[in-house]
Amino acid sequence: MKTPIQKALEAYLQKDMARFHMPGHKGAPLDLLGPVLPYDVTEILGTDSLYDASECIRETEREYERLYGSRRTLISAGGSTLCIQTMLALAAPAGSTILAGRNIHVSAVNAMGLLDLRPQWIFPQQNPGGVGSVILPRDVEQALAQNPEIRAVYLTSPDYFGVMSDLKTIGEICRRFSVPLLVDNAHGAHFAFLEENLHPMALGATACCDSLHKTLPVITGGALLHLADERMAQNAKQAMSMFGTTSPSYLIMLSVDRVLDYIQGDLREDLKKTGDMVKELRQLAASKGFFIPPQRCDPTRLTLGIAQAGFDRERFGKLLRAHGMEPEYLSDTGCVLLLSVFNREKDMDRLWRMLRSLPDREPAFVDIPKVEQPVCSALTLRQALLGEREELEVSQLEGRICACVKSPCPPGIPLAVPGEKLEKNMLILMKKYGIDTLYVVK
Ligand SMILES: Cc1ncc(COP(=O)(O)O)c(C=O)c1O
Repeated sequence: MKTPIQKALEAYLQKDMARFHMPGHKGAPLDLLGPVLPYDVTEILGTDSLYDASECIRETEREYERLYGSRRTLISAGGSTLCIQTMLALAAPAGSTILAGRNIHVSAVNAMGLLDLRPQWIFPQQNPGGVGSVILPRDVEQALAQNPEIRAVYLTSPDYFGVMSDLKTIGEICRRFSVPLLVDNAHGAHFAFLEENLHPMALGATACCDSLHKTLPVITGGALLHLADERMAQNAKQAMSMFGTTSPSYLIMLSVDRVLDYIQGDLREDLKKTGDMVKELRQLAASKGFFIPPQRCDPTRLTLGIAQAGFDRERFGKLLRAHGMEPEYLSDTGCVLLLSVFNREKDMDRLWRMLRSLPDREPAFVDIPKVEQPVCSALTLRQALLGEREELEVSQLEGRICACVKSPCPPGIPLAVPGEKLEKNMLILMKKYGIDTLYVVK
């Protein structure tokens, strides 16, 4: 029988790679669920209902409210993507302007398009090679002072590289202007359990999403939406039900439930252990010429600027795989390794050995083009995203209107988003980043 997905997964398991990628459980033989199929049920008498929760699901959500200090927390079995759709739907009506950091994930751009929200972009300060970026509080303040139409601020922190913006100061600014601060905290579910609580709920966000599955031992798809605002809380389940499946996975929800024991047990200690090890790995990597983001970062994430150490994607990928490691992300400029205590001792040995095998060197200067401000929006996000479109070669696109999200790499800063007119300098940059074709409005 043909079972191509199983074959591909088994081929990967056979390689016995060190998993420095999601999900957070790293495939460890954890007894988090036990034999799973008996638990794969649906919304029946006694098992509650995700979008109308009043029994067991609501109880688990209350436990999370206590742990994260939120007014309301909702379980999502559709990842942070579902949480982002929900929080944007709750934040402002169709046609509203949202101030958004341009280091945004495609799920948020798509949600804004579906909801007909109009982003006004803030460009982040980027590290060399685009390995991490931050939104500056003064840029948020300036935008809010200049445009009273802005109904909400939407930021990603930490970004994919683990780099954090100053949410505390930005939260204070938002409160002064009476606009909600929405945070994509997909990569920071564990931040509430660090020695210093760096979770957006503790730093003054109005709402945020956490992908539990990215950094904690939870099945892919398990996430949380936290709300600090009572008005949002009242409508949250209904808003989430607009986007989610009507058959949410009980295996995912069970996994979200079962991890509570771990969160209240060993998690804090484990985060400290991983953080201490990452600190040492960063020092070693820096001595080998790798760029380490200088800002405040997720202590458990090892992000390396590889161009500074003389590597590109192909060469560094070969080196990692020759040492039996699979990264979360790799480009010509950077590499992201997600580490946790669920990585085996031999996984960590491979990483130490690989870094030690490299010669000491000073970091090289790298001049990598930065993503520029877009010139103008010719259509709304929604018009361009949902209208008729065609795929054309980049050389044919000057003056056309973008109909898709194009980033140099999935976690990067989009070079163009739907509705923006494609100018010559943008297209040159796309070519440089290896983008050959693009969907544009027909
Ligand atoms: C910054 C960011 N936000 C949101 C998401 C979406 O999260 P999920 O995969 O849990 O739906 C991702 C996924 O990688 C992400 O990197």
